[in-house]
Amino acid sequence: MTGVAPRFSRITGTGSMLPARRVTNAELAAQLAARGIETSDEWIIERTGIRARHFAAPEQTASDLALEAARHALEAAGRKAGEIDLIIVATSTPDMVFPSTATIVQHKLGVAGCPAFDVQAVCSGFVYALTVADALIRTGSARRSLVIGAEVFSRILDFDDRTTCVLFGDGAGAVVLEASDRPGLLASDLHADGAYRDILCTPGTVSGGRVLGDPTLKMDGPAVFKLAVKVLEESARAVLAKAGRSDTDIDWLIPHQANIRIMQGTARKLKLPLDKLIVTVDEHGNTSAASIPLALDVAMRGGRVRAGDTVMLEGVGGGFTWGAVLLDM
Ligand code: UT7
Repeated sequence: MTGVAPRFSRITGTGSMLPARRVTNAELAAQLAARGIETSDEWIIERTGIRARHFAAPEQTASDLALEAARHALEAAGRKAGEIDLIIVATSTPDMVFPSTATIVQHKLGVAGCPAFDVQAVCSGFVYALTVADALIRTGSARRSLVIGAEVFSRILDFDDRTTCVLFGDGAGAVVLEASDRPGLLASDLHADGAYRDILCTPGTVSGGRVLGDPTLKMDGPAVFKLAVKVLEESARAVLAKAGRSDTDIDWLIPHQANIRIMQGTARKLKLPLDKLIVTVDEHGNTSAASIPLALDVAMRGGRVRAGDTVMLEGVGGGFTWGAVLLDM
């Protein structure tokens, strides 16, 4: 690329994709009961706010969901795939060990040449990926990027563990992030602390042609809950300070959709009325890196988030990783 690097990046289109199969709490509870595991619609709603989630069909991969979300985002932005010069996919459930899901999405979009890679920061993956894309745009390395969060967490759930299998779902969300002379992405704040890796992990690995260790998700829910509440408030305040804004400037809070109690707690700490909180966890469950762009797209298409609104995105999850992005739509 030549010329002066743009000062900002901004979102010009959003899209999302949910697999067709919607599984209600009652349906899941009945399936678990058949395995001798007790749970209920009431427990899941009261403790998490989740009413249903979507599960991918056996042949559906993260790249399939990402592709549809990307197509919708491109359409919303009025862009063709061939105009994109950077593709980043945030995922912890990639199609393969390698190559990256991003290169698979690139090929399915019918394009070639531009850089494409995955970001692995679990449920913080989308805020990490958006920050990386913004940085590459600001340095002039890219002008029009696709930033996608896509997950098939149903593949890594242990359906004998009621403390985790009722929480997660599958889906994808995408944005087109483009170079712009006006903001855009105002500030971001990213963190990680590997000392907490054991409280949320999928410890299995592949070696010698075999899966070693347990390849299903493990979570110490209460420990994650406690840490999430703390870091979400800290990161929200940090990103506001970096952007020179205050909590009263936030039009919409779109936190990672894991548990309604964590989300409402964060909104209250920021003194935000709860109607400024975008909630999709009730219908999507926790879709990890896909949850934030999915919620953003639902809010955009539902006419709640509009051009000019100030939006705070917040991720938190395995690693431990966390962070926030503040942006003007
Ligand atoms: O995506 C990354 C970020 N992830 C999160 O933010 C998740 C954070 N954690 C949470 O959302 C919550 O900790 C959970 C929803 C996972 C659990 O809620 P909790 O209020 O912390 O419940 P708990 O783990 O303390 O369990 C309370 C009780 C236990 O029974 P006892 O020991 O009190 O008899 C559990 O065995 O609820 C029991 N329980 C269940 N009961 C029915 C746990 N899971 C279930 C279930 N159905 N599915």
